[in-house]
Amino acid sequence: PTPLAGRHFLKEADFTAEEFRGLLELAAELKAAKRAGTETPYLRGKNIALIFEKTSTRTRCAFEVAAADQGASTTYLDPSGSQIGHKESVKDTARVLGRMYDGIEYRGDSQAKVEELAAFAGVPVYNGLTDDWHPTQMLADVLTMTEHTAKPLGGIAFAYLGDARFNMGNSYLVTAALLGMDVRIVAPKTYWPAQEVIDRARELATESGARITLTEEIAEGVAGADFVATDVWVSMGEPKEVWGERIAALAPYAVTMDVLRATGNPDVGFLHCLPAFHDLGTAVGRDVYEAHGLTSLEVTDEVFESAHSLVFDEAENRMHTIKAVLVATLG
Ligand code: CP
Ligand code: NVA
Repeated sequence: PTPLAGRHFLKEADFTAEEFRGLLELAAELKAAKRAGTETPYLRGKNIALIFEKTSTRTRCAFEVAAADQGASTTYLDPSGSQIGHKESVKDTARVLGRMYDGIEYRGDSQAKVEELAAFAGVPVYNGLTDDWHPTQMLADVLTMTEHTAKPLGGIAFAYLGDARFNMGNSYLVTAALLGMDVRIVAPKTYWPAQEVIDRARELATESGARITLTEEIAEGVAGADFVATDVWVSMGEPKEVWGERIAALAPYAVTMDVLRATGNPDVGFLHCLPAFHDLGTAVGRDVYEAHGLTSLEVTDEVFESAHSLVFDEAENRMHTIKAVLVATLG
């Protein structure tokens, strides 16, 4: 069995830096093997349940393709297609699915639910995104960073601009703190992670040597960064009505070519977990763009489509990294 056999994957801080790095290394190996056509299926005969209480493109597809590549089968439970939460408690669902499946992925709003599922399932449970954390995304993002720099993890600096109080901001801060990276959270103070998240990150940083900056100043935040990241300004589950206040607060923090230039790094990479609002030309979010007289939101189309943009490598890496989690916990 692998060192992580039987473990849940609920949030980054549940792992040591060594364990997290081990998953990154395994993902890189699995990616290389797939490309070379030499992948070994370690998960033959395994069954994995995928519970999605929120919609998904990447995470769902990553779990399904990763499982298929490894010889496992999956069952997708869509946001309306199961009894969970309305007709049946999380605790009962956990005990039922735990009798049939070898692993369970869960995407929903509350971290407490995925923790409860893990407490009662008796099989590994994977967090496919909650309001608080997006840990599988962090594996993909860090793998993508390592692929696009010669620096060791501890030498990488990245800035996250935008709403940092939600899953992506929290996860970036804590992941960087765990791995000893140089992380800058660049946002209005009201959009910084909760104090307890910052405290946990600072604790981890004392061990890892990570450098943590929280700032409202873009120039200070991005100077010397190897990567600049952002996320949507309104997350799944939030009401449409918050668009106005978000745009008012976060528009100065949109990732533009000027922001990339302010890093002083001609090779700076751009990251976004996707989906992204970058192009008025697409039907998606047209009402929001038009109501506010904007042609892009968190990132300009120019940046998104530029050579700096690593977003599709990042999206592909969701699959290789999720595969590593499955192999490490079930293989
Ligand atoms: N980045 C991400 O989690 O994408 P999906 O919502 O499409 O799964
Ligand atoms: N913060 C976003 C991330 C989507 C992958 C959301 O929760 O909707």
